[in-house]
Amino acid sequence: MLPKLHYHLTILVLLAVNVNFPATVSSAELPSFREAPAFRNGRECPKAVAWSTTDKRVHNHSIIHIAMTLDATYLRGSVAGVFSVLQHASCPENIVFHFIATSHRRSELRRIITTTFPYLEFYLYHFDANLVRGKISFSIRRALDQPLNYARIYLADLLPAGVRRIIYFDSDLIVVDDVAKLWNINLGAHVLGAPEYCHANLTNYFTSRFWSNPLYAASIRGRKACYFNTGVMVIDLWKWRDGRYTEKLENWMRIQKRYRIYELGSLPPFLLVFAGDVERVEHRWNQHGLGGDNLKGLCRNLHPGPASLLHWSGKGKPWLRLDSKKPCPLDSLWAPYDLFRHSSLFSDS
Ligand SMILES: *[C@@H]1O[C@H](CO)[C@@H](O)[C@H](O)[C@H]1NC(C)=O
Ligand SMILES: *[C@@H]1O[C@H](CO)[C@@H](O)[C@H](O)[C@H]1NC(C)=O
Repeated sequence: MLPKLHYHLTILVLLAVNVNFPATVSSAELPSFREAPAFRNGRECPKAVAWSTTDKRVHNHSIIHIAMTLDATYLRGSVAGVFSVLQHASCPENIVFHFIATSHRRSELRRIITTTFPYLEFYLYHFDANLVRGKISFSIRRALDQPLNYARIYLADLLPAGVRRIIYFDSDLIVVDDVAKLWNINLGAHVLGAPEYCHANLTNYFTSRFWSNPLYAASIRGRKACYFNTGVMVIDLWKWRDGRYTEKLENWMRIQKRYRIYELGSLPPFLLVFAGDVERVEHRWNQHGLGGDNLKGLCRNLHPGPASLLHWSGKGKPWLRLDSKKPCPLDSLWAPYDLFRHSSLFSDS
């Protein structure tokens, strides 16, 4: 019995690679950041017109919309992520960020983004944590149970109607390529695009209660279901609204709350609704798992092949490991995007 149990736990832990919000949100002072350098469009870019001055009901594909969550615990990761996107974009002035935060310290977060990125066009939306609180069932990892971890389900409700397409990014990643390449993928008839991993055995994502209920099991059986990580997604919000996908995901969350049909947080409902119906994005757009093994905290290597986006999903976060002077080798790739101002006698101003 023991080896089998261990095997299952290992699988579950290895699969727990989507965002991980620590359970505690500190009330300590928020970190402070250096001001990011100004960014300018390349010559080949369409002339930047602030999205705020255009008709927001009209979709304009030249403007890239990116959504991320903001909270005290992950702030350093979010700031590095934004900086990395701007650094590598060919047309950074045509990017608009949509940040989602709970009411906790929202005005401080706004001030930090404004002072760190004075040239950035961004919007900050309020995510009502009560929306999901009653629907979250505890997972094997408390970090996955934070309400903000579920904000990605509500993008279609939070963002204005004129945003047709959105890229969702977790707060523990950096982009090292022109994000326009990801933005311009063809979604075909799909609502959602993401890199897929088809070697995963989906049996292990769901409990025996799930598989023994013919109705539930039928929802995934027979579909060419592959695993995907919800930390990097390209979503057509118009199709999402038309298909009422938020409700579909919420339905599975309700079932989970009553019957416990899976062990992880926000990933399984996405699998139940979308698996087998995802537009395949090149794997280079989510080199995930760099946070390392959840049990032993072992360092991970890059998967073979090119990388456009590095994702520190898993337990370890590069800023924590760098601060503790015990970094993994790949954390040195994250460090150049860290705008955190270390307080020291010799700090610049
Ligand atoms: C779309 O956005 C681009 C970049 O900001 C701008 O140059 C262009 O005029 C916009 N098009 C329309 C129809 O508003
Ligand atoms: C998937 O895992 C289950 C249980 O661990 C096993 O019984 C099944 O044979 C596996 N399926 C494949 C295709 O490997």
